[in-house]
Amino acid sequence: MDLFDKGPELEPKLAKICIEIGNWIKSQKNELSPDEIESKGHNDLVSYVDREAETQLVKKLQELFPAGVITEEDITQNRVSEYTWIIDPLDGTTNFIHGLPAYAVSVALKYEEQYVLAAVAEPNMGEVFTAYKGGGARMNGSTIKVSDTPVLKDSLLATGFPYQDFSQLGSYLELLNRLLYETRGVRRFGSAALDLVYTAIGRFDAFYEYGLKEWDVAAGSLIVEEAGGIVSSWENTSNYAESKTILATNGHIHEMMLKSIRKVFG
Ligand code: IPD
Ligand code: CA
Repeated sequence: MDLFDKGPELEPKLAKICIEIGNWIKSQKNELSPDEIESKGHNDLVSYVDREAETQLVKKLQELFPAGVITEEDITQNRVSEYTWIIDPLDGTTNFIHGLPAYAVSVALKYEEQYVLAAVAEPNMGEVFTAYKGGGARMNGSTIKVSDTPVLKDSLLATGFPYQDFSQLGSYLELLNRLLYETRGVRRFGSAALDLVYTAIGRFDAFYEYGLKEWDVAAGSLIVEEAGGIVSSWENTSNYAESKTILATNGHIHEMMLKSIRKVFG
């Protein structure tokens, strides 16, 4: 399969579904009480908002295009198929719970080993980022491109701080130390899906993080690639979802970022 031929037809429909769910999540902002917040593990929060958003998404996505599902919350329903929806109903749960506006609905469709369709909807700015394989990337329907920034010193980066797996914290801080000197700055937004789509539209020049799950990065990665960027693992391989390290850049600074990463992580 060269191109996903249903992309042009499904992209606006997927965007509409993600916008609806994103708006519903936003509407729950003042409804959520502290006793409705649960902990799935160390620093891993969840509430009825994540769960209800996921249930609604799975239902609507199956109506749109029946496929397997991999989701963050109810993993009992997870089933990989030729086509599989990869779903993060609320990326940035901690932000949402703390009343911060950086969160998003993130959905990708995977065909065998490739992401072929993606949407990330951010309800507070009213932005939806979409792409399909071979068809470019868009924000609210208009074509987007990664930045042209050619060097690290003019680059603004995004990352995620370790919050659960602290095994590599020392090296991570050493890398941060290095990049703070080498670049214009490093942001920690708290939503990998948004870090990726903000790289796709050129607000960030690169995003790097370790320890992420496939649902955090699936949609945003396709959107970066379709916007002209490069996504790889820290070993510069394409299996970033399994390798648990991700680097997404505008392409120009990919090798420079890898070089800095290698200096610390070997
Ligand atoms: C989290 C966010 C965050 C990243 C974490 C993710 P969640 O997703 O993407 O930016 O640093 O690793 O788990 O838990 O809010 O869906
Ligand atoms: Ca997530």
